[in-house]
Amino acid sequence: MADSDENPQQDLQRRGVRSYVIRAGRATAAQQRALDQLWPRYGIPFENKVLDFAAVFGRSAPVMLEIGFGAGEALLSYAQNHPDVDCVGIEVHPPGVGRLLLGLDKMQLSNVRVIMHDAVEVLERQIAPASISMIHIFFPDPWPKKRHHKRRLIQPPFVALLARALRSGGLLRLATDWEHYAHQMREVIDASPEFENRAGAAGFVPRPAERPLTRFEQRGQRLGHAVWDLEYVRR
Ligand SMILES: C[S@@+](CC[C@H](N)C(=O)[O-])C[C@H]1O[C@@H](n2cnc3c(N)ncnc32)[C@H](O)[C@@H]1O
Repeated sequence: MADSDENPQQDLQRRGVRSYVIRAGRATAAQQRALDQLWPRYGIPFENKVLDFAAVFGRSAPVMLEIGFGAGEALLSYAQNHPDVDCVGIEVHPPGVGRLLLGLDKMQLSNVRVIMHDAVEVLERQIAPASISMIHIFFPDPWPKKRHHKRRLIQPPFVALLARALRSGGLLRLATDWEHYAHQMREVIDASPEFENRAGAAGFVPRPAERPLTRFEQRGQRLGHAVWDLEYVRR
């Protein structure tokens, strides 16, 4: 069997089809200082080695993963409200990581760590099967043009990686303000035998009270975008 049949997401990556492009926006001086000075405290380097979260956090607690946390508003708020949960954020955009680090330092949170790398590779290489209790993916890049749909994160191979990472009974939460992507998310994840849609036939859940309004979502609101929330349980 050809490689591409075995792992289509890896094949897309080999051909340079990623779910992001590193944007030109530079980190501010404060964000750059945070990246230089706070990284040793909060950063986890990307390595081809499975993480032991009990060793990383120095305790045994449920682990929440947020993929593509942007500026980190949702991650900070979740970590602050759930001190008993250890939170790992994955993001490729350095200014966003810098902003999150500044927030972590200001709020003196000890239950958050950050990986600055492609979430696809992090899930493949660094996350042990059934080691995660909750995954948040809020407003993943919608890639609205048809010819860019292949860049969307939520596709069957990626959903298989999410299923592998989550423990049985674990929760996957997503949100998007792009209708076509909302239906794609639902179609793809509903089709996975490993996930059960918490909304049943309705498909979408009401906005979870604890998901804060991020700057990204606010911008969408100003443009009149609606929002679709999805919630799945790992069988
Ligand atoms: C549209 S933004 C939304 C940010 C944030 N979740 C929010 O709601 O404000 C999507 C984010 O996902 C990040 N991203 C996209 N693909 C990624 C990947 N493969 N691994 C890690 N981060 C990724 C982008 O850099 C970007 O910051």
